[in-house]
Amino acid sequence: MIASGHAGVVSILAASPEDQELFVVERQMNGASRRRSVVMIVLAALALAACAGDDPTNLARVVGGDVPQNSLNPAGPTAAKVDSLFWMVLWIATVIFVLVTVALVFVVFRFRERKGRSRTVRQLHGNTRLEIAWTIIPAVILAAVAVPTISTLFEIRAAPDPEDNALEIEVIGHQWWWEFRYPEYGFTTANEMHIPTGRPVYLTLTSADVIHSFWVPRLSGKRDAVPGRLTNILMEADEPGTYIGQCAEFCGLAHADMRQRVFAQTEAEFAAWALAQTEPAALPTEGAAAAGWETFQTQCTSCHAISGTSATSQLAPNLTHFASRTSFAGATLDNTDDHLRQWLRNPSSLVPMWPERNDLAAGRILGMPDLGLTEQQISELVAFLRTLE
Ligand code: CUA
Repeated sequence: MIASGHAGVVSILAASPEDQELFVVERQMNGASRRRSVVMIVLAALALAACAGDDPTNLARVVGGDVPQNSLNPAGPTAAKVDSLFWMVLWIATVIFVLVTVALVFVVFRFRERKGRSRTVRQLHGNTRLEIAWTIIPAVILAAVAVPTISTLFEIRAAPDPEDNALEIEVIGHQWWWEFRYPEYGFTTANEMHIPTGRPVYLTLTSADVIHSFWVPRLSGKRDAVPGRLTNILMEADEPGTYIGQCAEFCGLAHADMRQRVFAQTEAEFAAWALAQTEPAALPTEGAAAAGWETFQTQCTSCHAISGTSATSQLAPNLTHFASRTSFAGATLDNTDDHLRQWLRNPSSLVPMWPERNDLAAGRILGMPDLGLTEQQISELVAFLRTLE
């Protein structure tokens, strides 16, 4: 008879006096249980805060620390600009929050209803000075936030000075992997980007299909890759290291598996890597690897390229130096034989994709299909891919 919420209100209208009494009792109990709930929530929050002491995800470590995708732990000048903007806005917002909250609490207590005092307070209308003040002050605050925000937005995507000797990389988003082209060197790679430290890197982004967003939080801000448009962003790493990023714009089934790894290297290491990437593939001539190359030519070349060979399609990642990469499948899977075998058996078992909708003639790819390879073909293909250093 006495239901909770809306139905309860409807049913109580038709209820007997006993029921109505019960309703009141229940209301009081609800009040008590609500208070109990609040106490429980506060206790749970305190317990969680206490447990978080050794937890690597606790706030102190997130703000200070070694979390791979922490934009509050910038590793280069572009990311540092974004970070300092964040703190500036946070501090301004904090000061305003504290002032407003203190004023609110003061007014609530100072002017609360008290016994023996008139309920009506003195009414004020049309105080010109006050109205001008509360128009100008927020306008000044907003300008103080907007000017550095907009100038930073322009700064981090402005073309660098020629004397900065920036490295240019073309970034193309695909469902669901990143293509990186190094026009200065003339090679193309996928999912893993190598950059030299202490040198600005100027990215020019676009997309082959839908909107993606390139984001390596410790090295730069977020920038959309939009089909039919070119966008830019600067990034730079102060120290050698591996920096993890991910697509930051929902782009379909495997959006969550569309990641990227950026390897910042010393100038000499980077030059050696880039030189090796410009080499065409050395094709195997005997053994399982050679058999794998035969299979590759019949099964894989409608999508994948290997430079220096007849395989030139750009629909899927360029595999010229596949064995030199630490990962594949949108930088989601470590480049191990086990992962590779399972991938070749059934790619969609590792990453959600929709290869049934591929339309090669239209240049549209929604993932690698299950090619129905035999175990022997898979072993030979793995042997072949391992020669692509
Ligand atoms: Cu690409 Cu999300």
